[in-house]
Amino acid sequence: MTSRIAASLDIGTTKVFTVVAEVQSGGGLTVLGVGDQPCEGVERGMVVGLDATISAIHASVEQAEKMAGVGAKQVVAGISGEHVRSLNSSGVIGVARKDREITQADVDRVLEAARAVAIPGDRELLHVLPRDFTVDEQRGIGDPIGMTGVRLEAEVHMVTVQSTAMQNVLRAIDRAGVKVENLILQPLAAAEAVMTEDERGLGALLLDMGGGKTDLAVFERGAVRHTAAIGYGGRAVSHDLAIGLRTPLEEAERIKVRHGVALVSRAGDGAVPVPGVGGREGRSVPAREIAEIIEARVEEVLSLCRAEVERVVDPELLAGGIVLTGGASLLPHARELCERVFGLPTRLGQSEAVAGVSDLAFDPRLSVAIGLLRYAEAPDESRSGRGVFGRVSRPVKDWIRAAFS
Ligand SMILES: Nc1ncnc2c1ncn2[C@@H]1O[C@H](COP(=O)(O)OP(=O)(O)OP(=O)(O)O)[C@@H](O)[C@H]1O
Ligand SMILES: [Mg+2]
Repeated sequence: MTSRIAASLDIGTTKVFTVVAEVQSGGGLTVLGVGDQPCEGVERGMVVGLDATISAIHASVEQAEKMAGVGAKQVVAGISGEHVRSLNSSGVIGVARKDREITQADVDRVLEAARAVAIPGDRELLHVLPRDFTVDEQRGIGDPIGMTGVRLEAEVHMVTVQSTAMQNVLRAIDRAGVKVENLILQPLAAAEAVMTEDERGLGALLLDMGGGKTDLAVFERGAVRHTAAIGYGGRAVSHDLAIGLRTPLEEAERIKVRHGVALVSRAGDGAVPVPGVGGREGRSVPAREIAEIIEARVEEVLSLCRAEVERVVDPELLAGGIVLTGGASLLPHARELCERVFGLPTRLGQSEAVAGVSDLAFDPRLSVAIGLLRYAEAPDESRSGRGVFGRVSRPVKDWIRAAFS
């Protein structure tokens, strides 16, 4: 069995994660090194400060390479933000062969037809994800190759991103001296890392509550139905605490992580010492009061996510429930609050233990980076089939080339 070195880069609002891993040709990966560096250049998932982002990427990659003892020649990177738009489209073709057997070439052609949608000049097509094929009158076919028919129809989910937002991500990585192998929508990567095929098959929702945003991906019958990003995450919670408790932001962040819970009903009876601003005397605040501020904001963010999901599907139909991941999911009782807002069973999503970094394997902040690696892990020929990326077709390479030529 051969193996190769692969690397992923999750440029988040609070940190830049790099993971360098050894990927076996038969599947399976061993994490060799991890870089985790704070980043000040990203807001709500978008690069707003180029220099700060470049240095964070540089430091993160260097840290991971040092730990791995090997270089990361190229990375699979993630992209997200409120600029992400998704739409569903369809296309129809006549099957080419005389004997009416459907081939890969037919599938390529019908996907080409389905994606022939006018995309505004300021946007780029990131992914075209096949959802369903119809052969003649037979709907709901996952893989039509080898079947017989006259008419082949494909339904696809298309993801577009703002050109400038994408250029800024690519530029930051390039200037950090790193080559981009591919760019993947963050929630799709997270879903690959923490969701099971069964869940996606039944219909399920992936929620990645990060620092600056909450990403979501809705799956129906194993395929992507909807993707979006809501511009609030754990940072908004800390901001609310800073204002509500009249304490510096760093203190608010520390209090949240150390004493915060997402449900008032689960707050302890005690009080928490809160330092004042600008040398003012600190005070003691009941844990309950802190939980009230946290619960209100997290509930609001989850309600915005729910409204976004309801635009495309009745949440009750998502029999596979919700998988909640991202740093903000570490707030105790966030899972229960999510169940209450959506009325759906929710579990916490932590990427499967990956050989190599046992202490990091259950960090929900790692989900995107591990998911991106799973993409690098999938051999090219398997990408027309199962799983999240199995269904990612890739115009990607072309615009990476375009961006730098
Ligand atoms: N133990 C904890 N309890 C509560 N919140 C936590 C904990 N650890 C991290 N967080 C919060 O998680 C958030 C960061 O999560 P994550 O690393 O997933 O975000 P990111 O990927 O940098 O940002 P984004 O995905 O929004 O661009 C921060 O707001 C942080 O306060
Ligand atoms: Mg993130």
